[in-house]
Amino acid sequence: GVRVGVLTSGGDSPGMNAAVRAVVRTTIAAGGEAYAVHEGWAGAVAGAGLLRPLDWDDVSGVLHRGGTVLGTARCPEFQTRDGLRAAARHLVGAGIDRLVVVGGDGSLRGAEELRQEWPGLLQELVAAGELSAPTAAAHPRLLVAGLVGSIDNDMAGTEMTIGADTALHRICDALDALRSTAASHQRTFVVEVMGRHCGYLALMAAVAGGADAVLVPEVPPAEGWQDLLVRRLTASRAAGLRDLIVIVAEGAVDRQGRRITSAEVGALLTERLGGEGSRVTILGHVQRGGRPSAYDRWMPTLLGHAAACEVLRDEDRPSVVVGVRGNRVAVTPLPEAVADVNAVRDATRRGDFAVARVARGRSFGS
Ligand code: F6P
Repeated sequence: GVRVGVLTSGGDSPGMNAAVRAVVRTTIAAGGEAYAVHEGWAGAVAGAGLLRPLDWDDVSGVLHRGGTVLGTARCPEFQTRDGLRAAARHLVGAGIDRLVVVGGDGSLRGAEELRQEWPGLLQELVAAGELSAPTAAAHPRLLVAGLVGSIDNDMAGTEMTIGADTALHRICDALDALRSTAASHQRTFVVEVMGRHCGYLALMAAVAGGADAVLVPEVPPAEGWQDLLVRRLTASRAAGLRDLIVIVAEGAVDRQGRRITSAEVGALLTERLGGEGSRVTILGHVQRGGRPSAYDRWMPTLLGHAAACEVLRDEDRPSVVVGVRGNRVAVTPLPEAVADVNAVRDATRRGDFAVARVARGRSFGS
């Protein structure tokens, strides 16, 4: 049967295990063989026992577990020619030329690069005597399907990344917990949430947790935002609200592109609101850990199944992202998804926030 490799790469996210399990079981059910590449792209680069077959039972009991049982890593070496060549050598050595990659935009960009460079890399390996010509000829191309695993929800080609829903639940739990202590002391809490350059977690947590204000990278506040924020919170306090919460995305910026930190917002509110001042809580990696939500179990299961089906076909084409659009499984060419994400990033860097928002809306369908 055909052999399908599966790896998780970049920052872990809850639900990656459900995806891996579905890839493994779909492959085996189709008569193929599933292989794990442990520790993400770093495992492909290092070889040496990190590429191992997976049986049906190897992915039992992982559905409810957070993180990734395959291990993951951030791997700068994979971005070099030597790293790519080593990865190609180890994959071919294990008979793998079909891959499902679960990771963020960086990991998926790497996947497309490896796919594009594959024939050249194999030629180089043959020329260097590190690979036999018949083995290279037996693996003329690499088929790749990507699943977006990241709590940040910052990738085009899907409306929801694997893990974002669970992270939101984690943030909501924290907000609920902070409310009781905030209300007791009539304090304002500034809560910093993850998301890198994407404000999804901050914005949705603000809506779901009933925050009084939120700062996100996509909508940098106008000059004088400090006064506006203080005015609003003062008015809320005067109206009798005892528990005030301000959410700051870790990537929040002002219109000049300068970072707005939670510490800065906390200091501002302590100075200007009076009373017992404010407290800053940086939620950090608890947002990324722990058991996946129900959504982050069934959604990656459907996507993992679809991704395995994609690479089990023999069609030679660019890598695809298998994601969710309009509550349906949707397949997008990876180069297209990357171009969409780049458009958002470039517009943001130019300070063209209106364009950035439109680009994000177009690529994320939201
Ligand atoms: O991309 C996921 C993420 O958790 C971001 O939200 C955060 O900025 C980053 O990873 C943290 O990276 P690390 O785990 O390497 O500290």
